[in-house]
Amino acid sequence: MSSKRILLIIGGGIAAYKSLELIRELSRRGVASRCILTKAGAEFVTPLSVSALSGEKCFTDLFSLDDEAEMGHIQLSRSADLVVACPATADLLAKAAQGHANDLASTTLMATDKPVLMVPAMNVRMWEHAATKRNVETLRGDGVHVMNPDEGAMACGEFGSGRLPDVAVIADAIEHQLDMLSGPKPLDGQHALITAGPTREPLDPVRYLSNHSSGKQGYAIAGALAALGARVTLVSGPVSLSPPRGVDVVPVETAREMLQACEEALPADVFISVAAVADWRPSMAAAKKLKLKDEGKTLPSLALSENPDILSTLSKKEKGRPGLVIGFAAETHDVEQLARAKMKRKGCDWIVANDVSGDVMGGDVNEVALVTPDSVEHWPRMDKIAVARQLAERIAEALKGQGGEQVAAE
Ligand code: C5P
Repeated sequence: MSSKRILLIIGGGIAAYKSLELIRELSRRGVASRCILTKAGAEFVTPLSVSALSGEKCFTDLFSLDDEAEMGHIQLSRSADLVVACPATADLLAKAAQGHANDLASTTLMATDKPVLMVPAMNVRMWEHAATKRNVETLRGDGVHVMNPDEGAMACGEFGSGRLPDVAVIADAIEHQLDMLSGPKPLDGQHALITAGPTREPLDPVRYLSNHSSGKQGYAIAGALAALGARVTLVSGPVSLSPPRGVDVVPVETAREMLQACEEALPADVFISVAAVADWRPSMAAAKKLKLKDEGKTLPSLALSENPDILSTLSKKEKGRPGLVIGFAAETHDVEQLARAKMKRKGCDWIVANDVSGDVMGGDVNEVALVTPDSVEHWPRMDKIAVARQLAERIAEALKGQGGEQVAAE
């Protein structure tokens, strides 16, 4: 049980009533909540019910003389270990992303020197709106932890992504953040090397072969390992994601550049090969743009060469092999069986197998099985950040007691 305190900003959405349950659940877990209720939030729950449940004054107004006399808004913003916005409405996300400070909630988010966790909940169209996506990207790039909402039936009668996650899931995420803040971390002193995203194999100066990998799962794993204290090198193909906080990103384009960057980043205690590396590249990348039909010539045919297998190469290193090597297997059928065969062929220690027959590529959720030489664990469908966190914890367990970078470098 932790004796921690959060500052809970309750935004104005129908899910605001669940913030009351959250306060109770956190209190049951030994986490105190000091609350700020936005003007819109007060349309859904009352300051009285919030203060009755939290056992503390509920703050609502930036310019209230009473509040300022008791505790200035700057002091309030720093008066807890973690700031949590739940529900975080589209408006709160937008204000926080753009640095507005025109009410108590937004000023607090700007003034705080503490980590921030935002738990969005809104109508599916609002969640999927380009502006919200941009704001979430910006916030994550700024180091704010933004949870992904659940999918399902909404209060407004529509269906889709935007529901507030279960209160227990939010409370777990809050406890996880609080745990991260205290004491030594399980992966302190370890170096994690990760590949993520697609590779791009040039055909000529303007065309390339590639795939739909978004890099989301690899980036989430990099962030989760950094949060557990690891030094993280993320060798990334071209993606449109912001680097996770505390992670060194090495941008590359082709498979051969990716392999070279990985070799240069060694030694590592753990290597996780999440990238969707293109298996082949055009044998010749033309120096000039290829023309559809040059002076009556027939269509050009495409000769391909095999790319290096980065996972196999690092797994099979005789000297300087990372202590733990984890591959990914994206399959559309016989997932576990094919994962085992792949583990043997590539020489890695674990495989994270996922069924990509659905909307995994580019989506926010994933359903994976962790396959090790003597076990297989089927994890429930969850968002990629939760998969990353669980995998990072398993890695931390596996590396426990190993010496970290110093030993690996010998
Ligand atoms: O053989 P397949 O592409 O299905 O293997 C997937 C695993 O191998 C992933 O971990 C991927 O990152 C890795 N891989 C690699 N280099 C390649 C092809 C795949 O590291 N050229």
